[in-house]
Amino acid sequence: MDARIAVLASGAGSNLQALLDHPSVGPCIELVVSDKPQAGALERARGRGVKAIVLEPAHSATREEFDRRLAELLEEEAIEFVALAGYMRILGPPVVRSFKERILNVHPSLLPAFPGAQAPRDALARGAKVTGVTIHLVDEEVDHGPIVMQECVPVLPDDDETSLHERIQVMEHRLYPQAVRLLMEGRLKVEGRRVHILDGGP
Ligand code: GRF
Repeated sequence: MDARIAVLASGAGSNLQALLDHPSVGPCIELVVSDKPQAGALERARGRGVKAIVLEPAHSATREEFDRRLAELLEEEAIEFVALAGYMRILGPPVVRSFKERILNVHPSLLPAFPGAQAPRDALARGAKVTGVTIHLVDEEVDHGPIVMQECVPVLPDDDETSLHERIQVMEHRLYPQAVRLLMEGRLKVEGRRVHILDGGP
């Protein structure tokens, strides 16, 4: 399998690390892009000899220009699949449209509950007993595209935001490489909002 994957990340990059460490997915990661020069994800990529590029929004005059530069970069690198891993910007139409059904995101709640940037905090504040992980295809709305995988994570009585997010991340690191592998193997069949996982070959 010689798919070409780009990972977009803004933060520490623990999900990027889980993808790099997966024996089928890791070797296909050709590019890591971050909007933040200090993102730990960049160091993780460089540590593995993966091309790591910073694309700072402040260097583009408009949101449209930034989106176009990102789309061009992915095209120049002949990227086929994109995995968002803690990428804190909304992907613009040029990228979403050219990679229709080829972009995944990992989100720390059971969508559609608790979309947005503070899902573990929001689950705690709401008194949820169970939250979890959602992996979904990306469309033009935030935390909205067709759901590929979900797993529950219990909220424990003495959880705080950090302990809950840590437990959610353990699940993220288990699920995300599996989902990216299914995507690159062409095993996600989308029918409306439902995603069917096709059996692998022999
Ligand atoms: C993850 O919890 C992910 O679900 C959310 O952002 C966080 C990124 O963490 N979208 P990391 O940078 O992968 O460690």
